Amino acid sequence: MANVTIFGAGYVGVPTGAHFARTHQVTIYDPDTNKVENINKVIDNNADSLHIHEKGLIELLQENHENITATTDIKQALENPEIIFIAVGTPPNEKGRANLKYVCSAAEQIAKNIKNDCVVLNKSTVPPGTAYLVQEIINNNLKSDVKIAVGSCPEFLAEGTAVEDLRTPDRIVYGCDDKDAIEQITEFFLFLHGRSTLAPMTTLSAEVTKYAANALLATKISFMNSLAILCDAVGANIREVQEGVGKDTRVGRKFLNASMGYGGSCFPKDTSAIAEYGQLFNSPLEIIESTILVNNKTTDYFSKKISEAFGGDLVGKNFIIWGIGFKARTDDLRESKPVQVARELMDQGAYVHIYDTVRGALENFENENPSYKGKYSIYHEQYEMVNGNIDGLIIGNEHEKFRNPDVNKLDSMRGKHIFDGKNILNNYLIKSLKSKGFNYKSVGKDTVANPVNKTRLIDFLKHEYMD
Ligand SMILES: NC(=O)c1ccc[n+]([C@@H]2O[C@H](COP(=O)([O-])OP(=O)(O)OC[C@H]3O[C@@H](n4cnc5c(N)ncnc54)[C@H](O)[C@@H]3O)[C@@H](O)[C@H]2O)c1
Repeated sequence: MANVTIFGAGYVGVPTGAHFARTHQVTIYDPDTNKVENINKVIDNNADSLHIHEKGLIELLQENHENITATTDIKQALENPEIIFIAVGTPPNEKGRANLKYVCSAAEQIAKNIKNDCVVLNKSTVPPGTAYLVQEIINNNLKSDVKIAVGSCPEFLAEGTAVEDLRTPDRIVYGCDDKDAIEQITEFFLFLHGRSTLAPMTTLSAEVTKYAANALLATKISFMNSLAILCDAVGANIREVQEGVGKDTRVGRKFLNASMGYGGSCFPKDTSAIAEYGQLFNSPLEIIESTILVNNKTTDYFSKKISEAFGGDLVGKNFIIWGIGFKARTDDLRESKPVQVARELMDQGAYVHIYDTVRGALENFENENPSYKGKYSIYHEQYEMVNGNIDGLIIGNEHEKFRNPDVNKLDSMRGKHIFDGKNILNNYLIKSLKSKGFNYKSVGKDTVANPVNKTRLIDFLKHEYMD
């Protein structure tokens, strides 16, 4: 059992702390009093909600209550840690670069308060080289005669499945140029995971691996999204194309789902950050730059479909959005595509009624969109607002409650329009909606509801492909 301290009580810090507490002694440090009180109340069994929504997290904290505490007291946090994980935010600035101010201030706090040798690992997603900067800040600010080795341990969890992702990772990437430190980190992880999951490497390789993984996954999505737009244009079905491509084991099925674009706190931020980093290093990453362009274009494409269904005039139209979190089962709205679409509709004069299965997502929407007050309402029961005033339903994320809507209940809508931003309705349902007069629009599978225009394709080929 090792003593570990985690800087940052956010979407990464809390689940990571709870997971480590299965076999280690964990202290989570965050200057935010509310968050720290929140965590401690849950640990002491005096509360059943946290500032972040993550399945199984409360149970895990309570299960390991003897091994974990949270504090705002930096001295208590740095009493005797053997390993420190920095998991503070690295939000993008206006150029898309990761802002390192929280990481640097954590480094300074560590240096000024630490009294024993230890290893500091960056869990935050940062530009390659940041561990060296953290090492320099620590060395320059140390108050005690101790040895601190700094490395990188990027995080790959996904919100919504963080607890499970941490319990059963495909791999644990960590890098440090100090051999002793690598051995110490390996020992630490062997308490939690099998050796075959461990991927030790140099500091810089670990830092690049994080961006490489997210950028590649985002690229897969944008690649399929650009083909989805082509599928709509010719009359093919992107869901079928996904299956055909994904069954090739060299490619794999994951991250091929076309949709109105990827969102969330990581892909948009990390793709922009590594693209900008490549530019600054005179090594432009053109494929990743295109990935970002396609992502933005796909959201515009979806919003335009909605507006075109009403002849380009949304003034006075009423929409329902099911799912406002950037994906199902999260309250996180950072770079959420349904939020972007909602704002676009409101900007064009429409009124939106927003529902999500996670209450915190609705509360966050209200807190984060004060300038839209009066242009939307939030509600807590899926069909509550489905009535004769509604012109269209937008499916915002992939929660299973939205996969199989009650067609009879939808029948009361005055506008028979369904916009499936996640392509989740199945063909049978789409056809049954069509038979009831619904207009179904998606990103790449409109053909399920609309016959292929063969004559147009034949004429096109005759005109463009025959001399
Ligand atoms: N959210 C994800 O799904 C995810 C996944 C993998 C990696 N990451 C990366 O992990 C990092 C953290 O992300 P997050 O989503 O948990 O952020 P978050 O915004 O949810 O949490 C960051 C926390 O850090 C705290 N903080 C700021 N300065 C501090 C300091 N000096 N000392 C201690 N705490 C401090 C803040 O109060 C906040 O509670 C980011 O770099 C992010 O890119 C996030």
